[in-house]
Amino acid sequence: MTTGSEWRQQVGRSWADNYRLTDRAFSGLTERLLGRIGGCDGKAGLDIGCGAGELSLALARGNPQSRLVGVDVSADLVAAARLRSEALENVSFVEADAAHWKPNDFAPDVLYSRHGVMFFDVPVMAFANLRQIAQPGARLVFSCFRSASLNPWATELARLLELPQVGEGIAPGPFAFADQSYVRGILDNAGWRSIAFEEVDFAYVAGAGEDPVGDALQFFGRIGPAAPAMRALDDSGRKRAEDWLRTWLEDHRSGNLVAFEAAAWIVTAHA
Ligand SMILES: C[S@@+](CC[C@H](N)C(=O)[O-])C[C@H]1O[C@@H](n2cnc3c(N)ncnc32)[C@H](O)[C@@H]1O
Repeated sequence: MTTGSEWRQQVGRSWADNYRLTDRAFSGLTERLLGRIGGCDGKAGLDIGCGAGELSLALARGNPQSRLVGVDVSADLVAAARLRSEALENVSFVEADAAHWKPNDFAPDVLYSRHGVMFFDVPVMAFANLRQIAQPGARLVFSCFRSASLNPWATELARLLELPQVGEGIAPGPFAFADQSYVRGILDNAGWRSIAFEEVDFAYVAGAGEDPVGDALQFFGRIGPAAPAMRALDDSGRKRAEDWLRTWLEDHRSGNLVAFEAAAWIVTAHA
C-alpha cells in the first residue's frame, strides 16, 4: 500500500532523486505505452500521476504542436519534471491531486498515465473527475501492473525480506489494478466507455553496467516495497538482508543486466 501522503513525502522524494532508475526499469513498457497513446500533435494531453515526466517529455518532443500538462501530488516529482522540461515550450507540470483538480482553460483530448492511477484513494471519484474535465469523446490510456504472481520481482522480494505479501484489489498500491473486472467496474461507474485491456510483458530492469547486481541492490534499496524495510533495519540486519538479495539478484543476472519478468495491462477507454 502506498498512500497519497507517502507520495507527497518520502516516496515522492525518493522517486524524484532516482527517476533515471525508474525510467530505466519501465523503459520496455514505455515504448508500448507511447505506441498506444499515438500522435497527439495539435491536441491537449494530460499525464495523470506524471512523476518526473518521462511520458510527457517524450510526447512533447514528438508532438511540438500539442499542449501537454502533467499533474502529480508530489512537489519533488513536479520540480524534477519542470527541470527536465525547461527546453520544451509545449509542456507544463502542476502539483495537484488528479482526483480533485479543476483546470481553467484546459480540456484534454487524450489522458494517459504510466502506472500513476492505482494510487487513488477513491478511484471511482478520481476517474469521474478526469472524465468531467476531459473533452467529450476523449481517449484514456494507462498502464498498471497485472497480478503480483506474474511480477516475481515483487513476490520474491517480499518473501526474501519477510515483508507482507503484496495485495491485489486493495487500493491504493502497485497491484491495486491487477484485477480486470475491478478496474472495468471503476471505469464504468465513472462514466468511461469502450474499456479494453491489453496484456503487456516487459523486462523490469533493476540493474545494469559493470556491477549490475550492486546497481540492482541500490535500486531496490531506494524504490519499491523493500526500501522502507531496508531503512528500518539496523546495520547487521541490513548486511544480512543485502547478502540474501545479492544471491537472488545474481540468479537474475544476464551479462551486465539484472532484469525480471514483469506483467502489465495497458487499459484504454473513451469519455
Ligand atoms: C508509480 S509512480 C509513476 C510516476 C510516473 N508516471 C512514472 O511513470 O515515472 C505513481 C505516481 O502517481 C502519483 N500520484 C499518486 N496519487 C496521485 C493523485 N491522486 N493525483 C496525482 N498524482 C498521484 C505519485 O506521486 C507518483 O508520481
